[in-house]
Amino acid sequence: MNIIEIIAKKRDNKELTEEEIAYFVQEYTKGNITDYQASALLMAIYINGMNEREIKDLTIAMAYSGEIMDLSSIGDTIVDKHSTGGIGDKVTMILMPIMATLGIPIVKMSGRGLGITGGTIDKMESIQGYRTELTREEIIENVKEIGICLTGQTENLAPADKKIYALRDAIACTDNIALIASSIMSKKIASGADKIVLEVTVGKGAFMKDKEEAIELCNIMKQIGKLTGKETVCVITNMNSPLGNSVGNTLEIIETIDALKGKISQDVLEVVQEVGAYMMKLSGRGNNITENKGKIKRIIENGTAYEKFRQLVQKQGGDLQCINNPHKLGKAKYVVPIFAEIDGIVESIDAEVIGSVSVYIGAGRTKKEDKIDHNVGIVINKKIGDYVEVGETLAYIHANDEKKVNGAVENVRRAYKLTSKKVTIPKTILGIIE
Ligand code: URA
Repeated sequence: MNIIEIIAKKRDNKELTEEEIAYFVQEYTKGNITDYQASALLMAIYINGMNEREIKDLTIAMAYSGEIMDLSSIGDTIVDKHSTGGIGDKVTMILMPIMATLGIPIVKMSGRGLGITGGTIDKMESIQGYRTELTREEIIENVKEIGICLTGQTENLAPADKKIYALRDAIACTDNIALIASSIMSKKIASGADKIVLEVTVGKGAFMKDKEEAIELCNIMKQIGKLTGKETVCVITNMNSPLGNSVGNTLEIIETIDALKGKISQDVLEVVQEVGAYMMKLSGRGNNITENKGKIKRIIENGTAYEKFRQLVQKQGGDLQCINNPHKLGKAKYVVPIFAEIDGIVESIDAEVIGSVSVYIGAGRTKKEDKIDHNVGIVINKKIGDYVEVGETLAYIHANDEKKVNGAVENVRRAYKLTSKKVTIPKTILGIIE
């Protein structure tokens, strides 16, 4: 088989066979296909798409490009969660300790930032010492001991996805149904999950720009789940505006700590409750979604999930002082307020603009080898529905590069749309596909 012929076939919008897809995945993983050839094929897939059969074959090939984890020794149903990505999405870091507190074993392997969206692993690495490269043995040991582990993909877990994910990020091929579905579901299959809840984001700060596209993505991921015997539920969430009050790695850790201590913004709480309630249901710990949401709220209020988060950080080598006193986490040199220039009610905050600014000031990557700056980002001071007077602070830029501050300030101000009319707060949860 020949990679040039495979690229040409997809370039000409032809269907690839199972063997051709498997060949590409195996040989790229081994290093026998170059990054530029893989880029060309991914771009052809991006432009011409894949049919359902091709997406399933790509997913399976990627899942089996490395080890398939056996979590049976944990002795319980493993329910996993994954988000298709967003701006300010810190749901995993808040929800996983809550689920572990409820006795649901959590084996969570997360990713790094992709495009303008943030990644949980980049965020957790803002905590000094926190290890995100655990071995399979450590993962199982941690889950048996404290009920939770939050790490990156193990070295040999879906290695094809690791390479393809980083490449997509650098060649503008992130927002594609075939590539997202295969990336997410290959990892879930390989990571040994029995059941899966997917947070599928829609809007300006998400890869899926409208609900119809999101439903298509949900349906294909559910089908792959069915094919591999993993019950999958999708929660469709609104990502037109950033989620919560901060965007940026350290800043989102600070917000996570606040949230677990009870100071949680309404939109974050809604996503945490919805995704968590379905995780509880799939794990056999309650069929009543409303009751499950109530339990989640109580676990936040009584502080036990915060304790679980501390336990997790300690177990993975993180400096607990950073959690006890978040001011010990890293800080940006410049914290610059952005003032409103007119009176009005906040009608929208463009998540795509906020995400792009956060990458511009260094919170995300523009090339796969880029080092991110953990301490920069944006703090949202006024949310949708808030009344603002001229001179009040809409948001703060946390930056380390003085030269980038002015551009960032202008763009964040542009992201805010103010109106004199009454504003209806948009829904956070847009749908459930069970
Ligand atoms: N998360 C992933 O793991 N992969 C994607 O492609 C998008 C979000």
